[in-house]
Amino acid sequence: MIGTLLKKPLELVETNFRQPAGSAGQLVGHLMTLQHRSLTVWAIEHMDVRRSQRVLDVGCGGGMAVKLLSQRASRGFVAGVDYSMDMVSQAVRRNVEGVARRRVEVRYGDSAALPYEDASFDQVCAIETFYFWPDPMQGLAEAYRVLRPGGQVSITLEMSREADTDPSLVQRYFGRRFTERSERDGLHILSGAELAEMLGKAGFRETRFVAEPRRSLGWVCALGRK
Ligand SMILES: C[S@@+](CC[C@H](N)C(=O)[O-])C[C@H]1O[C@@H](n2cnc3c(N)ncnc32)[C@H](O)[C@@H]1O
Repeated sequence: MIGTLLKKPLELVETNFRQPAGSAGQLVGHLMTLQHRSLTVWAIEHMDVRRSQRVLDVGCGGGMAVKLLSQRASRGFVAGVDYSMDMVSQAVRRNVEGVARRRVEVRYGDSAALPYEDASFDQVCAIETFYFWPDPMQGLAEAYRVLRPGGQVSITLEMSREADTDPSLVQRYFGRRFTERSERDGLHILSGAELAEMLGKAGFRETRFVAEPRRSLGWVCALGRK
């Protein structure tokens, strides 16, 4: 406990973005859910979710996307998967009604081995989690496997090489430092084209990306179809 308290605050936040754990993880989970709300809304806009679709959110964190997706897929089914048990319980709490109606499910699971059958979803999304996956190509292979033919994948990140070359104040003072620090910690900061290329290598077609270079550290959302 004392060790945790003494950890540098930034390190603590970064560790808990990657895999939230314990009371610090619960707190960071709530904060990141708030912080990612506008990114999440933006990501979901690009997914074009239909009422009866089955949707999977990988690395669902506190379950905000699961909740918003279940409002769109109101006659369908939305699942969230996360490898932090603390986030699984937070996401369940945020979605109690949907869970009770069996329209929502949140499970413990890893992007590298999704706990679902082949071809069981119309959409698979991952918001602000992809660069934490130890083996991103295995994660994409899993997304491909659980999608039905014609289903759509979308990978959204708030930090990318799409960040504006004429940066805003926030990007100028915090952005570069934060991006460099993240790379030192082993995160691969990708451009939209690189992300779309990875989707292509995983077998997806009609790959494309959209970006908001001035939002945060360069919002990007890459999409493809099975
Ligand atoms: C920065 S949080 C984002 C959470 C949520 N998507 C959001 O936008 O608020 C990253 C989440 O991805 C989860 N995560 C990271 N790597 C994962 C993996 N390989 N498999 C499953 N979940 C993973 C973490 O536990 C964490 O909850």
